[in-house]
Amino acid sequence: MKENNKSKKTFYITTPIYYVNDVPHIGHAYTTIAADVIARYKRLSGYEVLFSTGTDEHGQKIVSSAEKANLTPLELVDKVVLKFKNLWPLLNIKYDEFIRTTEERHIKVVQEIFNKLYQKGDIYKGEYEGWYCVPCETFWTETQLTDKTCPTCGRKIEKIKEESYFFKISKYQDQLLSYIEKHPQCIQPEVRKNETISFIKSGLKDQSVTRTKKSLKWGINVPFDDNHVIYVWYDALLNYITVAGYNTDKEKFEKYWPSAIHLVGKDILRFHTVIWFTMLMAAGIEPPQMVFAHGWWTIEGEKMSKSKGNVVDPYEMIEEYGADAFRYFLMREVSFGQDGNFSKDLLIKRVNYDLANDLGNLVSRTIAMIKQFFNNKIPEAVTKKEVYDIELEELALKTIKEYNTQMNNLSINLALETIWQFIRRTNKYIDQTAPWVLGRENSPKGRLSNILYNVAESIRLITILIYPFMPGKAKEVWEQLGMETDLDKLRIDRDAHWGKLKPGILVKPGEVIFPRIDLKEKEKEEVKENIVNLISYDEFKKIDLRVGKVVSAEEVSGTDRLLKLKINLGKEIRTIVAGIRKYYSVEKILGKKIIIVCNLQPIKLKGIESQGMLLAAVDNNGLALLTVDKEIAEGSKVQ
Ligand code: ME8
Ligand code: MG
Repeated sequence: MKENNKSKKTFYITTPIYYVNDVPHIGHAYTTIAADVIARYKRLSGYEVLFSTGTDEHGQKIVSSAEKANLTPLELVDKVVLKFKNLWPLLNIKYDEFIRTTEERHIKVVQEIFNKLYQKGDIYKGEYEGWYCVPCETFWTETQLTDKTCPTCGRKIEKIKEESYFFKISKYQDQLLSYIEKHPQCIQPEVRKNETISFIKSGLKDQSVTRTKKSLKWGINVPFDDNHVIYVWYDALLNYITVAGYNTDKEKFEKYWPSAIHLVGKDILRFHTVIWFTMLMAAGIEPPQMVFAHGWWTIEGEKMSKSKGNVVDPYEMIEEYGADAFRYFLMREVSFGQDGNFSKDLLIKRVNYDLANDLGNLVSRTIAMIKQFFNNKIPEAVTKKEVYDIELEELALKTIKEYNTQMNNLSINLALETIWQFIRRTNKYIDQTAPWVLGRENSPKGRLSNILYNVAESIRLITILIYPFMPGKAKEVWEQLGMETDLDKLRIDRDAHWGKLKPGILVKPGEVIFPRIDLKEKEKEEVKENIVNLISYDEFKKIDLRVGKVVSAEEVSGTDRLLKLKINLGKEIRTIVAGIRKYYSVEKILGKKIIIVCNLQPIKLKGIESQGMLLAAVDNNGLALLTVDKEIAEGSKVQ
């Protein structure tokens, strides 16, 4: 990464400023966590860091939401901004600045730049005729559309015809292309850069940058024309230089601009490259060091949306799994830049395997052995090194080096993978050297002392490296290891060296740092939750429930759980595989009339296709099938 001021290492990182029409969700959390991880890493590497986030508070979308909530736009934004501001510390996010676009310092910058470009002739008055998507706050021309829906979000768009000021983007087309060519890092990942280049080459049209007050009042006033407010994106993008001190703090601005890395989702790439870069060029300001567009999260394979009811609430995630486990999952699960899929099952697996088994186990057994064999005192490395010791030490050095490279390349998931290889190797080292055997025999403690020093030193290094990802958990490990310096005062180049751990420090055995999540308990909780969730009659009606008679039953081999049933549904016989063998024998179930969900997607169990599901009630003592209480024909509908 480029640094700005040669004598001082400075670094500026930003998140998008989020719309406050609605509360924060996993997508907002994702970008902000990633920015926090990078900011913490850069601080650990000795940089002076400016990490900024904030909220985008103008525009039509806010007005519509305010109307629905029966509030004024200002009342709405003042209320919702707290949902963001309160969330970040709970997610262990440590930003330096929070900017709201309704702040005076920002309004001044926006009006200044608008004036400057107008005077230069790069902003001119005209008439806009075209389409507008409110959820995306995006103008669309007729030629960009295939029907009357937004090409980005698929929602309904509206026709606009009104007087408008335009920004002469077309004038900067060639300059923009050659800038990107000369600065190959300025748009990342590569695929996003190529996408941008081909968009520019398809021809840039001048951009409408105002709305008339007749159609929208909630925005920053055009300084020289009372009838217009500034387009929300034109306003929002400028937040990045407001925060850096443009025109208010020269020293700060020179210190941090243009070292900025803008982290954004791929949804808003074009605004951050085409519009933002040309706005800056027109204003005579250098574009930022890099725009990095990361991928998109889906939830259990589906697009997240309110109407689907699958929006992941970060507050809930913190409550259920803790901030650091959630952070770890998001950073580890997908390669930074690619799309990802979220599910609680995947998260729980990561917690149980990576955090509880690998890291948690390493820490707890090491501390326990230091307690047992050395009275809590970190032992000395006294004997000659053996081959396993040398291997471990060499891997530690290699890990730190690779980690630095990967973090600087923003390959943050790979950096975690690198750390975990080392964690697993350290666990293996313990298994290979079997310190508990050396401890049990009344043998001299030299070799044992050496081994436990090496393991404790590995944990110390691991803790420094995981700190940007899991600052809270890293602190707990750090304290159990008896360390007293603040983790955020450490410097990788000074402190992440093998052998810096001082023998004699007292470890502080404490609680299990990464408890396993019991899946069975979790499932029970979810069943409880589901009972209170209301569904509409229409949703219920979608389920095709019918009475079916069990006409054959056999045990499925290779498992003690499953029965393969043939169910007569009047017009057809279906195969259903059910996990009920513990409660129902073949004899007991044959001939029963039970209730079947008939329109469930088939699934394969032990190679047999199960074409539906039977209904049963469950409690702590077992399971009871639902039946009918008098004779009724097979295939009858349950309603
Ligand atoms: O676009 N997966 O605000 P916004 C990954 N105000 N990231 C996601 C995501 C998902 N499913 N959903 C949202 C705006 N994000 C403008 C920005 S900046 C000058 C103005 C993240 O509230 C991602 O970073 O719609 C995306 O770019 C951003 O939230 C959009 O937030
Ligand atoms: Mg959005």
